Amino acid sequence: MVVHPAIEPLSYLIGTWRGQGEGGFPTISSFAYGEELNFTHPGNKPVIAYSQKTWKLNSGEPMHAESGYWRPKPLLRLSVRRAPVLLKFRSKIGTYDAEKKVVKLQSELVGNASKVKEITRVFTLVDEELSYVVEMATNLTDLQPHLKAYLKKL
Ligand code: HEM
Repeated sequence: MVVHPAIEPLSYLIGTWRGQGEGGFPTISSFAYGEELNFTHPGNKPVIAYSQKTWKLNSGEPMHAESGYWRPKPLLRLSVRRAPVLLKFRSKIGTYDAEKKVVKLQSELVGNASKVKEITRVFTLVDEELSYVVEMATNLTDLQPHLKAYLKKL
């Protein structure tokens, strides 16, 4: 596949990934979920389109879904639509290490009245397995893990 030069460092993400995760937080019960991530590269634009869906592992019932665009230049910029709308963060900015295949995203605060104060998400590729950790801070709790998942490319 021919990719836009700006996308090249992240091109390893392109494709469909499926796996499982675990969620929790000091204020909630922990839970297990299934997840599919889809990264596509539309035409020759310097973006990667991204969508995520998650479901309850035991029943298959849908949980959260997200979609948006990753724009790697000059900073990785991720705009996200989420259903259900849980937070007022419109975008995340990030950095990536193309050699280590680590992407770090950090929420940008946009007039946020929600209980969520900060979110970080780190994606790592090790031995062809993509994993990520989401941490969040709320008005009650400082930055702590909320989600952790492992996915394989289909
Ligand atoms: C709870 C934020 C992604 C499943 C929560 C809470 C917040 C939150 C603020 C309430 C915590 C509290 O009451 O103290 C976020 C953010 C996400 C995210 C910012 C994205 C980065 C997800 C995903 C899933 C999920 C992908 C499912 C796979 C849950 C569940 C609860 C919860 C089951 C507990 C029940 C509930 O309050 O609805 N999340 N979450 N979250 N989250 Fe997330």
